[in-house]
Amino acid sequence: MTARILDGKAIAEQVREDIALKAAQLTAQGTQPCLAVILVGSDPASAVYVRNKVAACEKAGFRSLKFEYAADAQPETVLAKIAELNADASVHGILVQLPLPKQFDEEAVLEAIDPAKDVDGFHAENFGMLLQGRESFYPCTPWGVMKMLEVGGVQVQGADAVVIGRSNIVGKPMAVMLLSAGATVTVCHSKTKDLAGHVKRADIVVAAVGRPNFVTGDMLKPGAVVIDVGINRLPSGKLCGDVDFESASQVASLITPVPGGVGPMTITMLLGNTLLAAQRAAA
Ligand code: GUN
Repeated sequence: MTARILDGKAIAEQVREDIALKAAQLTAQGTQPCLAVILVGSDPASAVYVRNKVAACEKAGFRSLKFEYAADAQPETVLAKIAELNADASVHGILVQLPLPKQFDEEAVLEAIDPAKDVDGFHAENFGMLLQGRESFYPCTPWGVMKMLEVGGVQVQGADAVVIGRSNIVGKPMAVMLLSAGATVTVCHSKTKDLAGHVKRADIVVAAVGRPNFVTGDMLKPGAVVIDVGINRLPSGKLCGDVDFESASQVASLITPVPGGVGPMTITMLLGNTLLAAQRAAA
């Protein structure tokens, strides 16, 4: 079997076109969606992500604000900026790029964001709403995966799904979203006893472990749908996912590549959440 490739770049473009159209309509009615991004420190990967987020906003016709702080910034300075942005009615979404330097209490910073502007979906209130199956802001990466499964025509209801990874940003919310969509979900992680056994039974595998080429073709059930959330840089400088694409694509029925798979969907869903925040503010 050679897997069909689920092209995240193409899906992202399609979704972004629709978002740009809706943003233009909202702007014409007097509300231009606006995202504020806060970057602390000089982590090169974070700088690239933030640059891409700001560029995506501009391309979709959103206003964007970027606030940068040195690695030794005082948490109070950043918390004061968040309070200011919370109070600014022209700002609809607030995003603090993670990770933050050591002197920061990440949870406290995320909790300081007004839940109505928490377009990352990381605030405990929004996470709780997601758990209860209520309307909230969904974390962008897992929501992007759900969108890809939908566009790919994957039957989630009744499927056996395995999520590898239990982070607050991807693994946990991914498991909840798949569960809400009717899958039977197993979450595997570094302490899982028989990871290979779980993966072998899965109709849908979502890999979010952060280890290059961790999932190989021999681990998969023939015909499985394989979603690769990993972005790892090899010593050679080449990007690769958590899935060994070469071997996995021989066994899977549908697979996402890296790059060009889940990555472009994350920023797309961030735009989606910011538009939603602006629509809610305008209503
Ligand atoms: N760092 C890695 N992924 C993310 C993300 O989705 N949002 C934020 N704010 N920081 C991140």
